[in-house]
Amino acid sequence: MKRINKFNVFEDNKQKRFLYTQNLVPSKALFEEELIIDKGVEFRAWDVYRSKLGAAIKKGISQIGIKQGDKVLYLGAAHGFTPSYVSDIVGKEGFVFCIDNAPRVVRDLVFVCEERTNMAPILADANHPDSYKDLITKEVDVVYQDIAQRNQVDIFLKNCDAYLKKGGFGLLALKARSVDVSKKPGDIFKEVRKQLEKSSMVVVDQRKLEPYEKDHAMFVCKRK
Ligand SMILES: C[S@@+](CC[C@H](N)C(=O)[O-])C[C@H]1O[C@@H](n2cnc3c(N)ncnc32)[C@H](O)[C@@H]1O
Repeated sequence: MKRINKFNVFEDNKQKRFLYTQNLVPSKALFEEELIIDKGVEFRAWDVYRSKLGAAIKKGISQIGIKQGDKVLYLGAAHGFTPSYVSDIVGKEGFVFCIDNAPRVVRDLVFVCEERTNMAPILADANHPDSYKDLITKEVDVVYQDIAQRNQVDIFLKNCDAYLKKGGFGLLALKARSVDVSKKPGDIFKEVRKQLEKSSMVVVDQRKLEPYEKDHAMFVCKRK
């Protein structure tokens, strides 16, 4: 197992489909993932075909900005699959505020968060950042968003403006077809980049996520 240093994520060169994180809660698998012990340390296998963050790392993104001890606002947490790996990355000193507006998935998310002291489920609409201001810290180190909505860029910018500290990282997993199904994904990516560049964010990297996710790109931004 080899550490990809800057990400606090690990890889095994023989396993193309997986990355690995150090398990915050040893012996506990959350999504039937494989647990592997290497030199006395337990790792959770992370299927990058199920995670845009994992896919972006496999695609060689230069940074994800998520470090040990960080507080992360995660928008579109769903059942908690990728959030659970973010929870491993930030570790005991960090925290992941998990927002989703679908009661059905938040029910499952609650069980995942019960297993971990550094994750909390919040049933809320990310269109209204004000609605969770009493439930999360005033400023976070990272905003991560994976929400397939037409106005996903507006949602992202609203939340970064409301909660992201200056110099903090914003990661936007963009689904082009949700923005406009009639346009080519490449054109959407260009438009989104322009929109981000006119905002309070600077785009520091951008990756298409194929072959892991079709018509998706990850934008890594930093708050000015
Ligand atoms: C693609 S899934 C997220 C998968 C998750 N990020 C992962 O990798 O494990 C998108 C999620 O966004 C949520 N969502 C859509 N619109 C939302 C909104 N306005 N506010 C909060 N969550 C929203 C959906 O309920 C869905 O669970």
